[in-house]
Amino acid sequence: MGRLAGKTVLVTGAASGIGAACALRFAREGACIGGIDLAKPPAETWAEVVKAAPAADFWTLDVRDEPAIAQAVEAASRRFSSIDGLVNAAGVSGGGAVGGLEEEEWDRVLDINLKGTFLVSKHVVNRMVEQAAGSIVNLASVEGLEGFEFQAAYNASKGGVVLLTRNMAIDYGAKGVRVNCLCPGLIETPMTDILKSEPLVPIRDKFIEMHMLGRPGQPEEVAAAALFLISDDASFVTGHSLVVDGGMTSGRRLMAPGSAPPAG
Ligand SMILES: NC(=O)c1ccc[n+]([C@@H]2O[C@H](COP(=O)([O-])OP(=O)(O)OC[C@H]3O[C@@H](n4cnc5c(N)ncnc54)[C@H](O)[C@@H]3O)[C@@H](O)[C@H]2O)c1
Repeated sequence: MGRLAGKTVLVTGAASGIGAACALRFAREGACIGGIDLAKPPAETWAEVVKAAPAADFWTLDVRDEPAIAQAVEAASRRFSSIDGLVNAAGVSGGGAVGGLEEEEWDRVLDINLKGTFLVSKHVVNRMVEQAAGSIVNLASVEGLEGFEFQAAYNASKGGVVLLTRNMAIDYGAKGVRVNCLCPGLIETPMTDILKSEPLVPIRDKFIEMHMLGRPGQPEEVAAAALFLISDDASFVTGHSLVVDGGMTSGRRLMAPGSAPPAG
């Protein structure tokens, strides 16, 4: 029997990357899936989810649009008997250094990454409270834990997600709802594909070097961590920020990867 048999999980950002990997993994673990995204998922990707899940539905909406979220959560509650899990994976990159950052860009990144997480959680958490059970997983980032050059808006949004997670864990723990976040390092998804284009390749190489495992992660590796947090295996875990970063935030290296220590 799958680890999510009998459960329903809503996944935002389900059309691509980490959200799509979560939807498929959870479906294979026996969950009913409610996908949410601004974009429609590629037909073949969603067909795999539909094939694996006991039931699946998809709502196309913007996570900044509260009435649309309220409608979708209402529809999901009618379609499935409960909403046991939520993964907030919808997000965008963007930003820059503060001095050159346009207000519109700041608002776009903060509104999608932070306010979108708040809005979807708001409409789902009240259902979970009624059920006295539920698990929410927010996609933060290593960039919500540490600063990164030219990423002021993105990092502020992800730092906000880390604290929103902790606050929700405090507010809803006694009501049976667990809230955790994931802090991935560099994961190979459409969001980070831009780093494969010149002149960004040297930055990508340097970024990869910061990961002690010496490689970027795959969306399926993040989905595996999300599965743990969503499932009852994490029944005593709440308010936690789980890094899935190939060791990136474990510390600093002084020598080139794999090199021998100097003599003496
Ligand atoms: N890829 C990485 O290296 C990485 C690292 C750390 C954290 N993350 C976070 O993980 C999450 C998923 O990222 P990904 O790499 O899978 O990106 P992705 O671009 O592959 O997928 C993001 C999805 O979010 C959707 N989306 C964007 N704006 C939306 C909106 N306003 N309303 C609804 N849906 C919207 C997009 O349509 C897309 O399907 C994001 O929150 C991202 O910040 C990614």
